[in-house]
Amino acid sequence: MEVHNVDLTISAVAEKQYPNTQFPEIALVGRSNVGKSSLTNVLINRNKFARTSSQPGKTQTLNFYNIEDKLYVVDVPGYGYAKASKASREKWGRMIETYLTKREQLRGVIALVDGRHAPTDDDVSMHNWLKYYNIPMLTVATKMDKISGGKWNKQESLIKKTLQLDSNEPLILVSALTKTGKNDVWRWIEGRMKR
Ligand code: GTP
Ligand code: MG
Repeated sequence: MEVHNVDLTISAVAEKQYPNTQFPEIALVGRSNVGKSSLTNVLINRNKFARTSSQPGKTQTLNFYNIEDKLYVVDVPGYGYAKASKASREKWGRMIETYLTKREQLRGVIALVDGRHAPTDDDVSMHNWLKYYNIPMLTVATKMDKISGGKWNKQESLIKKTLQLDSNEPLILVSALTKTGKNDVWRWIEGRMKR
């Protein structure tokens, strides 16, 4: 999609704050610091619209980005943030579970994993959880600019194997730096918007 107009409609923590629209929604989930907000910026052609940080735990709310009055991309707080208290982890769990299981406008989830490493146990749990709830999912491996081209195939196989991706489950390798994979991610989103 050609993106010109983007607006952060709301940073929500509760259901009653979700936008009252019928636009399709795509959520980004993944470990804290994996690059969800950075990928949001790539998708909307902005450098610093969604706030990013080298410190994990930057995004703390469900951030609804209205794109061209056609679609919401929802940037979700990350999991697996070691310094988070048990209470805040439970709060995160409830907030995200409510959104992912109840939101009728949700058409799919982009599940991010760090392309440099094997997916973590939390990544595997998230993947299985989304599958259990039959939520259409695109797996995206981030930070691929940090890996030499010769190792991409090996990383791709490692990610597919660790997450036990079926051959029909899509995986796209991306970089927020070089914008690799951006068009493929958009194609998947546009496919989901048609349903
Ligand atoms: P939380 O909001 O804490 O859940 O993190 P997040 O998943 O939104 O991560 P964020 O986009 O803030 O990125 C975390 C750090 O990784 C930042 O320092 C980014 O600049 C960096 N980063 C994200 N994507 C890439 C990428 O593709 N390549 C490189 N080299 N760095 C990246
Ligand atoms: Mg973030």
